[in-house]
Amino acid sequence: MLHEIRGPFRSLVDVKTGLVDRSIYADEGIYQLELERIFARAWNFMCHESMIPKAGDFFLSFIGEESVIATRDKKGELQVLLNSCRHRGNAVCRAEEGNARSFLCTYHGWTYGLDGQLIGVPGYKDFYHEQLDKSQWGLVRAGKVASYKGFVFATMDPEAPDLEEFLGEVGRMGLDLIAEKGEEMVAVKGVQKSVIGCNWKLAVDNLFDFYHPQISHASATMSGFRKQLNKLTTEEMDMAAKAGVLGGGLRPHHRVSMGKYGHAVGGPRITEEMLEARAILGDKLDGLVQDQFRDRPQAQEALGEVGLKQGGHPNIFPNLWMTGYQLSLRLPKGPSATEIWWFTFVPKEETEERKAEIIERANHVFGAAGLLEQDDGENWDQSTRAMKGVVAQRYPLNFGMGVGLAPVQRVAGVSYVDTNVNEHAQLWTYQAWSEWMDAESWAQLGQIATSAPLDGVR
Ligand code: FES
Ligand SMILES: [Fe+2]
Repeated sequence: MLHEIRGPFRSLVDVKTGLVDRSIYADEGIYQLELERIFARAWNFMCHESMIPKAGDFFLSFIGEESVIATRDKKGELQVLLNSCRHRGNAVCRAEEGNARSFLCTYHGWTYGLDGQLIGVPGYKDFYHEQLDKSQWGLVRAGKVASYKGFVFATMDPEAPDLEEFLGEVGRMGLDLIAEKGEEMVAVKGVQKSVIGCNWKLAVDNLFDFYHPQISHASATMSGFRKQLNKLTTEEMDMAAKAGVLGGGLRPHHRVSMGKYGHAVGGPRITEEMLEARAILGDKLDGLVQDQFRDRPQAQEALGEVGLKQGGHPNIFPNLWMTGYQLSLRLPKGPSATEIWWFTFVPKEETEERKAEIIERANHVFGAAGLLEQDDGENWDQSTRAMKGVVAQRYPLNFGMGVGLAPVQRVAGVSYVDTNVNEHAQLWTYQAWSEWMDAESWAQLGQIATSAPLDGVR
């Protein structure tokens, strides 16, 4: 361990100056406490209901570093079970997804039903002499399981508030930005998974970062990977910049929405000028603009006044990112490793051709073979390595861009700032991180978690 854990954790994140202590990315003790106080406590995304439509369907997910089975029992209820046999701890499910009638442990054969109950014990009569109370030895079940518009979440802590309350206005807005993209969103088969040698929080804070594309993604942009742009004239390219589809460059209008427990949505704000430029370019931007869904009345109602103009990227605290038709989990695998998962969604009602386009674009941009992910992953890996040293650890990181300069507005329960490129969403996330780490229980977290910033990011 590089440091003694210095509490309170709020002292490691200074929201007035934007300074963040580097130990939070490197310290093994802090990492272990994150697993306990953040992941084992929060509502974690499991999968989408369309991935487990029938009884017995299951999908293996994670809560922190712990494997859990998200499944649908015989009554059609969603269940989330800790994937560890109660006898000697063996994993009872080895497949990443599939359909099962029960889960048979491969060690001694204890067998569990889809609801986690222990239903079979070899030698129950002869070896256990019927002395084992099977009702007490089922798989550990999640404290609460719930779904929001088909997106399934679970928390291991029964004291957690209900999912809708946990999400609040901003968490719901974040999920609505993907859930309302069509009449019925369904997950595409296959989740892309790869490991990057970075601390999970760097992968999270980057999702709000619209400062880096002009440098980090310069090569991707130069390679012409947004093929629609390659056909545009110089004047049309200027218009495309106004339309906000170039990806690189610093766009002037940003919005950051901030919610209790650390949920945030940050990125370009949708402006009239942007919409006009898009209308002029029309079909020439085919597939590059993914905002048409905002015209749907259901989407307008769900997103509300603030959400409707909110572009960019949501993070459902702690580690669920949405972009376009994709959703990404940043799963912690130690202080210096993160497994990145990418789920892709399509509106069920779309044509096969349009679905294929969505999937192609998704694979092309993010995921193990995604051009942008290659650029990002390299930076996060190097940041994690270069921050570990005893000297490097003495100096804080700087998240101070624009701190205190943007007045906070509040409309329909959503606190947000409208400004140019900034680091407010990142700092909001780290402030929430420190509150989660300081709180010893859900009750305490409910009291200390900042819900509405009053000035700047506070
Ligand atoms: S470890 Fe599962 S039956 Fe023994
Ligand atoms: Fe990036």
